[in-house]
Amino acid sequence: EVGGVKITRQDVVRDDPTNNVPDNIFSKLGMQLHRRNQHPLGILKNAIYEYFDTNYSNKFNKLDDLCPIVSLKQNFDDVLVPEDHVSRSYNDTYYIDPQTVLRCHTSAHQAELLRSGYTHFLVTGDVYRRDSIDSTHYPVFHQMEGFRVFVPEEWEASGMDATSFSAADLKKCLEGLARHLFGDVEMRWVDTYFPFTNPSFELEIYFKEKWLEVLGCGVTEQEILNRNGQPNNVAWAFGLGLERLAMVLFDIPDIRLFWSNDERFTSQFSKGQLGVKFKPYSKYPPCYKDISFWINESFTENNLCEVVRGVAGDLVEEVQLIDNFTNKKGMTSHCYRIAYRSMERSLTDDEINDLQWKVRELVQNKLEVVIR
Ligand code: PHE
Repeated sequence: EVGGVKITRQDVVRDDPTNNVPDNIFSKLGMQLHRRNQHPLGILKNAIYEYFDTNYSNKFNKLDDLCPIVSLKQNFDDVLVPEDHVSRSYNDTYYIDPQTVLRCHTSAHQAELLRSGYTHFLVTGDVYRRDSIDSTHYPVFHQMEGFRVFVPEEWEASGMDATSFSAADLKKCLEGLARHLFGDVEMRWVDTYFPFTNPSFELEIYFKEKWLEVLGCGVTEQEILNRNGQPNNVAWAFGLGLERLAMVLFDIPDIRLFWSNDERFTSQFSKGQLGVKFKPYSKYPPCYKDISFWINESFTENNLCEVVRGVAGDLVEEVQLIDNFTNKKGMTSHCYRIAYRSMERSLTDDEINDLQWKVRELVQNKLEVVIR
């Protein structure tokens, strides 16, 4: 049940070529991890709410129950995503039918909320993307969208032009948020591109010897305001990945843990507060299995990962391309190394061999590649 509406399997999964939603994705709809106050994602959401409530005297409207099933128009057209943008492809996005998708970002709600008269809002929700598999990527994750509209008096008083004013306010707001959550942490701004903002930026945080992208943001494209009843105003928007931030904040080493019902995980967050560092229970050994095949033109890594995830579920930790060559006849071979590991128990050889055989069979039948 999402937003008071019951979603059935038939609403989402269909045996139709225009539908690419597998059962394991359907089973995540309605889980709404971000609404659990004793879950790291809920704790983080509440901490961000607290920052906005204190600094903006409760001006931001908070929505965390909007339905993740949206139209193509909401997900892409309304936020000016070009017709030929990769994110529209079946390879990147879960389609229910040609006009309906599982939202791939919370930006899908910007236009409708503006039209409903919202000018300051935070939208939190589950988002869905077909992707590769590793410890920081999972096909379902959670985002929070922030949006703020300014009226002319606000930037006119500053002596700045509307765009610079909005960009400066945005950066100040998000740097304050990062400090509210992390205290002292190394961060940097990187210029980037989004169809719906200009200029656009990414905020990166230094974590485990790497720069981790935690949010995208920018000054809202004027066209979005013009189309949705705010032609004289300017705005900023941001979209942040809750898992990415929570992994840094709580020291959570693997994104699959957010879905764990293991008491050794859940009990560590029972206080519902920031400041907890996750204590890993003994790490079980990974088991690596390689698979090699001649690819065809339609092969994609996302399709491979979907097959592996369909067989092994959360027992797969990583799928990594370890060899890639083309022979004299022009045939290309890929070798992938699959890491199997449970976070909860040690896996038996038999169990892993079973999984690997099923993966080989399905890779062969579904992806129509030739196993070597
Ligand atoms: N929707 C973007 C994403 O998912 C994030 C974003 C939101 C960027 C709002 C700019 C403004 O990557």
